[in-house]
Amino acid sequence: MSESTNQESLANLLHEERRFEPPAELAASANVKAEVYEEAAADRLAFWAKQAERLHWEQPFDEVLDWSDPPFAKWYVGGRLNAAYNCVDRHVEAGNGDRVALHWVGEPDDDTRDLTYAQLQTEVCKAANALTELGVKTGDRVAIYMPMVPEVVIAMLACARLGAPHTVVFGGFSADALASRVTDCGAKVVITADGGYRRGAASSLKPAVDEACEKVGASGELSVEKVLVVRRTGEEVGWTEGRDVWWHDVVDGASSEHAPEAFDSEHPLYVMYTSGTTGKPKGILHTTGGYLVGTSYTHWAVFDLKPETDVYWCTADVGWVTGHSYMVYGPLANGATQVIYEGTPDTPHKGRWWEICEKYGVTIFYTAPTAIRTFMKQGAEIPQKFDLSKLRILGSVGEPINPEAYVWYRETIGGGRCPVVDTWWQTETGQIMISPLPGVTAGKPGSAMTPLPGISAEVVNDEGQPVGNGGGGYLVLTEPWPAMLRTLWGDDQRFKDTYWSRFKDVYFAGDGAKLDDDGDIWLLGRVDDVMNVSGHRLSTTEIESALVSHPKVAEAAVVGAKDETTGQAVCAFVILRESALESGEEAPDSLIQELRKHVQKEIGAIAKPRQIMVVPELPKTRSGKIMRRLLRDVAEHREVGDVTTLADSTVMDLISKGIDSGSSSGDEG
Ligand code: PRX
Repeated sequence: MSESTNQESLANLLHEERRFEPPAELAASANVKAEVYEEAAADRLAFWAKQAERLHWEQPFDEVLDWSDPPFAKWYVGGRLNAAYNCVDRHVEAGNGDRVALHWVGEPDDDTRDLTYAQLQTEVCKAANALTELGVKTGDRVAIYMPMVPEVVIAMLACARLGAPHTVVFGGFSADALASRVTDCGAKVVITADGGYRRGAASSLKPAVDEACEKVGASGELSVEKVLVVRRTGEEVGWTEGRDVWWHDVVDGASSEHAPEAFDSEHPLYVMYTSGTTGKPKGILHTTGGYLVGTSYTHWAVFDLKPETDVYWCTADVGWVTGHSYMVYGPLANGATQVIYEGTPDTPHKGRWWEICEKYGVTIFYTAPTAIRTFMKQGAEIPQKFDLSKLRILGSVGEPINPEAYVWYRETIGGGRCPVVDTWWQTETGQIMISPLPGVTAGKPGSAMTPLPGISAEVVNDEGQPVGNGGGGYLVLTEPWPAMLRTLWGDDQRFKDTYWSRFKDVYFAGDGAKLDDDGDIWLLGRVDDVMNVSGHRLSTTEIESALVSHPKVAEAAVVGAKDETTGQAVCAFVILRESALESGEEAPDSLIQELRKHVQKEIGAIAKPRQIMVVPELPKTRSGKIMRRLLRDVAEHREVGDVTTLADSTVMDLISKGIDSGSSSGDEG
């Protein structure tokens, strides 16, 4: 964690004295009351055994947790269940088939579609039958690269129904990123769409799939056998006969009867790729029983979900873990009614989200601090034009929420009456781990408060010793939990090395944290080379590799610099190859734009550096490690810190001089 983040968070902490008690009415009727913490602490496994009753088990489990071979956990051992049956069919069988599961809102105005649980069941069964026809069998991997349309949820559930693990790749990622994920998990089918709508225009997806399939095929080891394409925008698409199939051709006419098979509790449900400290994304593996228990329990507890009356909206894209746990699996397992929205918050106008909240009477709203800060900048007048009186709970996820944004969210969006639940978790944890409970906790702006019932976390020092109240250090999770990742796809060793080796016998999350005098947890950001841009994890190394893959770049170092809206922004320092410029010539703006575009092509627009600074040297220790701390000082316009461990102490002068003379550029795009 950077010194400055640390200092600033500590300063906030010292001055933050506001407390928000839960509203009395909410406290009285809350799903989870204060005594549950004690109940869970007294017998953690009995607690998690009880939560498993939320699901339908085709065959009951014999043992709650097998932790005989750490760090490889098995939850609900011997139990068998079907995830799609639990998310859809059983609600229909319970008489709730007419309840709306999805209020889908397309970006173009008037483009909406409601799906009841009964309709969702029909669609999922048809899609499962169609995938079977295309050759998908239990255990096969299916990649999904789609916009936010109902078919993405249907596709995920159809895969789950067949026991075919899906890997959803965010539609904003490039063809290269898609290809590497398809290759890593060996997906033989890709489900996609011609495109989707973003910022008022059709944005295509199929060309990236075509390019990715070519790349995957060129490696010679694997080939994508089928590409299933949803027609969304109606744009013309390239077509590979024999491989490409329209969704409407094979799904619409398929039988709506499909008997779900029960799978082992530890059967893989999905792989989600996320950034780590090296260039290669990690395939986080989640399995079935524990994941569904963990996500459905926490969704019900943290959002106090009342499925008969609540309208829930999580604004995350399905391409991230939040979209998996709190848009698809958690809410649907709970029989919730929810909104899903295809487009961007400012299209066709800046009040779009609030207009949707008003129209559907959204009661529970879950978003990211970066969005809240953007709305704050735009001004309270925009949300104030809409009726947000139905809202009762607000959630935040993805990065620390600063107290100003928390209070603005609570007051302006929540009318001063809605508790804000600041939920800390990760792709790896699968479920929310640290969060207030809306009917129990007196919230402090900026703190994620305490571990949820059944969860054990600590803040430890370098030696792994608990720091105690008032101390700061590293966040670790000290006991296994149901939705935890089981391994990294195809790489057990990296799984052990990454999460279980820094401290003995506990999971190291990679985050710094501080305990205040009451023992409440304040997250202080990553302590490794991972950035958090708009709540999305990006690896510095991955962006560096992308930059160095450009023929004009010799070396690159990337840091996350503080950014008012996105939390952190990508700042890159590059050394150009000698051949790139005439001697003495300055890097032209066009070259810098070219490099930014290159990163976008290699990874995706979210990784595009805000700023690229061309430098003659990079600051390194004698052992050759780049001193990012110093680069962060430059990127954040601070006086450069202690340079005594630099191999060449004049380097920072050279860099600062170069920056002052203007060899840096970027834009907001
Ligand atoms: O640094 C923490 C931050 O996001 C990281 C996890 O990122 P990802 O796996 O992409 O999942 C994001 C959605 C769960 C964490 O290591 N983070 C997430 N939520 C919070 C947070 N930091 C502070 N407060 C949070 N509520």
